[in-house]
Amino acid sequence: MSIQTWQHKDLLDVSQLSNEEIFFILDNAKRFQEVNHRAVKKVPTLKGKTITLFFAEPSTRTKLSFDTAAKRLSADTFTLGKTGSSVQKGESLKDTALTLEAMHPDIVVIRDSSSGAAQFLADRLKCSVVNGGDGWHAHPTQALLDAFSLRDAWNGEFTGKTLLILGDINHSRVARSNINLLARLGVNVRICAPKTLLPRYLDNFPVTVYSDLAKAVCDVDAIMCLRLQLERQAAGLLPDLADYSRRFCLTSALLAKAKPHAKILHPGPMNRGLEIADDVADCNDSLVLNQVSAGVATRMAVLYLYGTRNDGLTINPNIGE
Ligand code: CP
Repeated sequence: MSIQTWQHKDLLDVSQLSNEEIFFILDNAKRFQEVNHRAVKKVPTLKGKTITLFFAEPSTRTKLSFDTAAKRLSADTFTLGKTGSSVQKGESLKDTALTLEAMHPDIVVIRDSSSGAAQFLADRLKCSVVNGGDGWHAHPTQALLDAFSLRDAWNGEFTGKTLLILGDINHSRVARSNINLLARLGVNVRICAPKTLLPRYLDNFPVTVYSDLAKAVCDVDAIMCLRLQLERQAAGLLPDLADYSRRFCLTSALLAKAKPHAKILHPGPMNRGLEIADDVADCNDSLVLNQVSAGVATRMAVLYLYGTRNDGLTINPNIGE
């Protein structure tokens, strides 16, 4: 691999990364995945580094896996949420960011409900900013971990595979980052949703659009179900949740139309029975928990690359045997 030093200060979305850099992250994640299966799951790679997790929106998987990843690399982590911080007293994002910076972290990981929040911080902080999900905009490490999971399941092949992304596409930063990344790697991406949950300006998306799930699912290699973001449905985008479930819930009868052993993904958290049936979520071809494990390994690779970019060393993580 020809990458000797990591050139990016921040990770805001996958669109910043070349295909070579994406595969470099995935290859490094594979090396770190092995650490996660050892009896002692800790290596000295980021000893002495400080990582701040600033999560102003709820999260289980992303927050915990960044924290786990950092600790397994021996970094010190500090977590700040909206609740319990001065954000609750009205402190601005700018002042919060400058306060975090004054404590000299090496990386700030941010999750925020505003699209562009990660860019806003990156423009103001000298340390690296890693986007842990901003509004509807982007979730780059989710797309990387999904690519990692599919690469394993598809024996390294992306070209010519077909992935269906199903559900609330419009509100989904996961869908936007995945479409960007996987289409570039040669995956044929289909999307299926009610019209009110499709993004505007669909011509900008390298996807084929379906409204009929029975047709969308035919002969696909994998299906990524998305959480119906119930907190964003107040605008009356869906007349009836039972009707949504009848038309867009992935059931085993619909799954039977996909290729044999088509893989099932969901970024979580799942609304079981609404966008995905229980037996589909738990079937042998479900990668849902593989995605969670891949999240730790992929975030170890990201934290390693961004955490050591200023050290003047050739990239070669010290992870022992
Ligand atoms: N996939 C994902 O971002 O999950 P969390 O909201 O639990 O972090």
